[in-house]
Amino acid sequence: MKEFMKHGVVKAVSVFLVLVMLVSATNTIGVKVQAKQNNKIVILYFSGTGTTEGAAKRIKNKTKGKLIAIKAAEPYTEDDLDYGNDDSRVTKEHESADSPAESTIRPEIANLKAIKKAVKKADVVYIGYPIWWGEAPHIVYNLVESVSLKGKTVVPFCTSISSGLGDSSENLKADANISSKTNWLEGRNFYDIPSQKTVNKWINGLEY
Ligand SMILES: Cc1cc2nc3c(=O)[nH]c(=O)nc-3n(C[C@H](O)[C@H](O)[C@H](O)COP(=O)(O)O)c2cc1C
Repeated sequence: MKEFMKHGVVKAVSVFLVLVMLVSATNTIGVKVQAKQNNKIVILYFSGTGTTEGAAKRIKNKTKGKLIAIKAAEPYTEDDLDYGNDDSRVTKEHESADSPAESTIRPEIANLKAIKKAVKKADVVYIGYPIWWGEAPHIVYNLVESVSLKGKTVVPFCTSISSGLGDSSENLKADANISSKTNWLEGRNFYDIPSQKTVNKWINGLEY
């Protein structure tokens, strides 16, 4: 009888412990999921010919974040974007210094005020850009210098034809208005507009 009682108590304690573990595990997962859902997300992007915009729209579909184009006060025309032409606007920007970080050219952003307002309220800020000569365009440098990203999670993304992300994200980060509390993720490149499935998989794997 005594042995039977002992077994019973051990069994009851074991069941109790398993239940406690299960409940706390469920809570941890629940809290994590909740945190991801409650994040306020803003997706900022600059796009010359619509590819980065396509990627940004898929990020919006997945995150339900607020989508905002970074608008140049003087929009880039097709001629402006002709990087095969030595006299084009982009070539002049590119040749103004050894890198965009060192250049003094900072194309004005028409909707900077609206961007600042949205970013202030956000926890997570996606920043999208096309790769220009292996780097983010000068206007995106203007963005990260002008808008405080202190304490935010920043998720860079870019599109290109053949180059990858390269150092473009790291170089932007080095120039950005951030703090030690900023969670600047590595980011990623897409060749052309990615599929929704590709974007969903990438975002599911992000830590924020
Ligand atoms: C000025 C300029 C420079 C570019 N430099 C590169 C480059 O270094 N590597 C690359 O793979 N693609 C380069 N491209 C191609 C763009 O990165 C690519 O077409 C991108 O997806 C365009 O995005 P958008 O349509 O959002 O502007 C360049 C395009 C332009 C206009």
